[in-house]
Amino acid sequence: MRSFALMLALLLTGMVGAQADTSKQAFEDDAKAAIKELATSLKSSLLAAMNDGGPAEAVSVCNLIAPSLAAEISKKYGLEIDRTSLKVRNPANEADAWETDVLQRFETRLAGGEAIQKLTFSEKVETGPTPQWRMMKAIPTDKVCLSCHGSKIAEPVQARIDTHYPDDMATGFKLGEIRGAFSVKREIIE
Ligand code: HEC
Repeated sequence: MRSFALMLALLLTGMVGAQADTSKQAFEDDAKAAIKELATSLKSSLLAAMNDGGPAEAVSVCNLIAPSLAAEISKKYGLEIDRTSLKVRNPANEADAWETDVLQRFETRLAGGEAIQKLTFSEKVETGPTPQWRMMKAIPTDKVCLSCHGSKIAEPVQARIDTHYPDDMATGFKLGEIRGAFSVKREIIE
């Protein structure tokens, strides 16, 4: 019973603490941790699926796993994390106006010589009904991405992509290009 009361007290202080800290710094810390966790989990799920059944099987895994991992991590950090791109595979990942603008500025920064790993941006956005903190971080195209997002996609892989994503636009990427970005937002409740 005592340990229950203690746990409840810890839980409540934790919750109050999280709600009270609406600073940009607190958001950025959580957003960076969430991005890191999603990037790592996606990569290990992808590699495991590729090892098990090759890229054709992995298409189905990405289709199911990517959205559920993002939902799980969003809940854990009390924010909303997604992936988006100027050329999406899943129309549900399509960029909104703010994201499109940031992605275009990432392209300009990359062309201007900035390292792809450094392409992040965050700000307070007050265009909607509730103000939000928003952050994006560019996702580079690695070698392992090319079997599903490159220019030469094997026939069985293409067939799987066509089945799940008839409106796919996410092919033709080259090594080192910006494949897309992680996009994080949190409502600012003051
Ligand atoms: C086995 C095939 C496969 C490989 C390899 C792969 N992807 Fe994808 N990718 C997909 C599928 C399928 C989706 C759609 C997921 C969904 O439905 O949300 C996707 C979606 C994405 C998205 C979300 C935006 C969009 O287009 O819908 C990004 C960003 C992305 N992939 C980046 C990468 C990166 C970076 C790599 C390499 C590290 C990679 N992918 C490797 C199959 C793959």
